[in-house]
Amino acid sequence: MLVINYQTMLRKLSLIALVLVVVASSVTAQQKKIGNETPAQKKKRMEWWTDARFGMFIHWGLYSEAARHEWVKHNEHMTNEEYQKYFDRYNPDHFDPHKWARAAKAAGMKYAVLTTKHHEGFCLFDSKFTEYKAMNTPAHKDLVKEYVQAFRQEGLKVGFYYSLLDWHHPDYTVDDAHPLTQVDTSQANYDRLNKGRDMNKYRAYLRNQVRELMTNYGKIDILWLDWSWDKGSKHGKWGKDWDAVNLLKMVRQLQPGIIVNNRLGLYEYSDGGDFETPEQVSTKELDKYKGHTFETCQTFSGSWGYYRDENSWKTHRQLLDLLISSVSNGGNLILNVGPTARGEFDYRATNALDSLAYWMHANSQAIYDCTLAPESFKAPDGTKLTYNPKLKKLFVHLYDYPDGGKLTLSGYASKIKYAQFLNDYSELKYTANGSDLELTLPKKKPPYNIPVVELDLQ
Ligand code: GLC
Repeated sequence: MLVINYQTMLRKLSLIALVLVVVASSVTAQQKKIGNETPAQKKKRMEWWTDARFGMFIHWGLYSEAARHEWVKHNEHMTNEEYQKYFDRYNPDHFDPHKWARAAKAAGMKYAVLTTKHHEGFCLFDSKFTEYKAMNTPAHKDLVKEYVQAFRQEGLKVGFYYSLLDWHHPDYTVDDAHPLTQVDTSQANYDRLNKGRDMNKYRAYLRNQVRELMTNYGKIDILWLDWSWDKGSKHGKWGKDWDAVNLLKMVRQLQPGIIVNNRLGLYEYSDGGDFETPEQVSTKELDKYKGHTFETCQTFSGSWGYYRDENSWKTHRQLLDLLISSVSNGGNLILNVGPTARGEFDYRATNALDSLAYWMHANSQAIYDCTLAPESFKAPDGTKLTYNPKLKKLFVHLYDYPDGGKLTLSGYASKIKYAQFLNDYSELKYTANGSDLELTLPKKKPPYNIPVVELDLQ
């Protein structure tokens, strides 16, 4: 009797142990972790960013002089020597980061991310580890330092972009994005170009520079490290090439509160980045990110760096749609400006920002602290919804202004306490019709491309 019980118990125990082993190994297989932060701690760390919803990206470097894309060195297969003219004459005489910060703030942006070094390798900051920096150009300034001070003073959060790629450094091994591999893609050419290059030295350089950025400029709120190839790509780089695990550990140690993007190529880690970065995607595609932690990065036109002759600028409505669609899917939008070689936002960027400022002045409450609406609320045709969970307010963004001034909110009856336009707090009357609400809007559309109705929920 006793023996049988003992055996059963043993069998049960070994079964439990087996289950535990299987569960544990499947967790480690897909979900390795670098740190030990809990989801609640992460939520808290990310809170200001989640509430902010809207930021400004700034791509600025020597490529602003070429004024034809920040990838110009790659696109035109330039050598360091050919590119040198931009370094020698870099002199942004109108650079005034306070002006930038004020424009960002007026447009309703709460944070900014500046390219401290883009793929071209040129450093806007004063680094001990290179001569290829603004200090040694006619600009003769630590532009990053001035940017940080100005944006902080204007009350914005401050972020750095740092390119993992480097098309200038002599030890950076050439890959399939490098300017020198674009014409001759043979293995022999890769071998020839990589002779004498030592990626270990570049890795040390990268680490030293990131350490400088994380130590010399006070508190930094966001770090954007850009970018990595898919794991396994033949002539690409990812996590291991950047020594990304240790890099990220260093960053988190030096700046405990910092928020880091997901482009380090740490594919097997659940905490290898704080947010996803869908780049230049359509608003339709953003729907796929519903409920994810994401920040979509978008340009005004096609290029990140200043591009004089690029004329396909997004309309005011397209920009608003990006902003509203990001928030209605629970994410952020970071919108890019590429200042000119003189250090200014050009008139097209300024016009776009001004138009956003006009809309945000009236409607920002439907953006800040907002997220996707609860499932029980369906967006009426021609509208998108955002939702403030703390205030229990639902915002209906009227993409198509209803003809005749009637808007039917299906299934909303008994869920609403009060309705008004957000832009002027003017009351909107409604009647219940079964489970629907019929909202009466003025025939004349308020003077906003996409007006917003604010609904106080029960
Ligand atoms: C890409 C591009 C780059 C741009 C960035 C912004 O990775 O290489 O030019 O800076 O995306 O998301």
